[in-house]
Amino acid sequence: MEKINYKMVKEEEVELALQRCIEQVRRNLETFTYHFPFASSVNNFYEPIENNYWTTGFWTGQIWLAYEASKENIFKYAALIQVESFLKRIQEQIAVDHHDMGFLYSLSCVAAYKLVGDENAKMAALLAADHLLTRFHEKGEFIQAWGSVNEPTNYRLIIDCLLNLPLLYWATDVTGDKKYEKIARKHITTSLKYVVREDYSTYHTFYFDPVTGEPSHGETCQGYRNDSAWARGQAWGIYGVAISYRYTKNEFYIDIFRKITEFYLSKLPTDLVPFWDLEFTDGSDEPRDSSSAAIVACGLLEMAEFLLAEEAKYYTGLAKQMVQSLIENYEVKDHSMSNGILLHGTYSKKSPYNTCNHYGVDECTIWGDYFFMEALTRLTKDWDSYW
Ligand code: GLY
Repeated sequence: MEKINYKMVKEEEVELALQRCIEQVRRNLETFTYHFPFASSVNNFYEPIENNYWTTGFWTGQIWLAYEASKENIFKYAALIQVESFLKRIQEQIAVDHHDMGFLYSLSCVAAYKLVGDENAKMAALLAADHLLTRFHEKGEFIQAWGSVNEPTNYRLIIDCLLNLPLLYWATDVTGDKKYEKIARKHITTSLKYVVREDYSTYHTFYFDPVTGEPSHGETCQGYRNDSAWARGQAWGIYGVAISYRYTKNEFYIDIFRKITEFYLSKLPTDLVPFWDLEFTDGSDEPRDSSSAAIVACGLLEMAEFLLAEEAKYYTGLAKQMVQSLIENYEVKDHSMSNGILLHGTYSKKSPYNTCNHYGVDECTIWGDYFFMEALTRLTKDWDSYW
């Protein structure tokens, strides 16, 4: 693709950037061991919250990545304190009336089990996987995103849920019980059938008829308007299908991956970091969503592991260009300016056409920080994924 000609990040730059991330995580432990950073910063600083939001796992995931790279116990002990909080959260059902069990438990508890064999973490992650199953609707064949499962107006899925499915695949792997994977496969089949449009852009969310389970209509809640493509939604799609391919080896996911990735690439500005909605490009004064670029870089690196050499090189090369741009133009370099890692993310932007609340616009996002660290980690070694 002609316009993708950014410089590729070099190995030593990756190492240095990862080191800077580790130091930022270390600085943050004092505030965020018994608390968690909120989803997005305010003036580039995160405020502490309890473990009661859908995003808290991204912080624990950063601590695990710092532990993996450094092997320093300070990170392990802090992450294990957080694992206790995740166990309590699922046992006591604190703020779990939604589908984000994968975002929460893959990066905190599956990671803890894989890295240090923590049995409480395994138990917590399996409880979270069981909880996720309770949100599956047999009629519509999808996992409901938000709110009470008995409320007909909530009868819909969102593309983000593709990142919650790895928890289910993992649960089947560790228990041998196929029920988890079966639901994951049904959910992704329904999702791809309805959220992917003819031009391979995506809806954020798709509604079904609660009585019949029949498809109703798509909407793009967090995007600019219903028929635009929300940059992070497209990113969740790209990374989500890549991970589902790893677990299922369903060739259809590679095909979809190629097509939704090409749509995404065709909308990028010259620095390869999208505006918050792919409707906007070079020349726009709309804010970026740096987290979308970090998520996509991880997705490209994930999929590249399963492709033939030439195509793998293509996607790896793209990911290296995206990471280079993130380092050059978006990474926090002066720590007195921010306690985050990646600037210029967008959580939720109000537009004339959507119903979003307006917050976390042109700020750090805790998942942007996490995926940036994950992309750097992936570029340093053959990473055993937490997903
Ligand atoms: N999963 C919600 C978001 O990406 O903002």
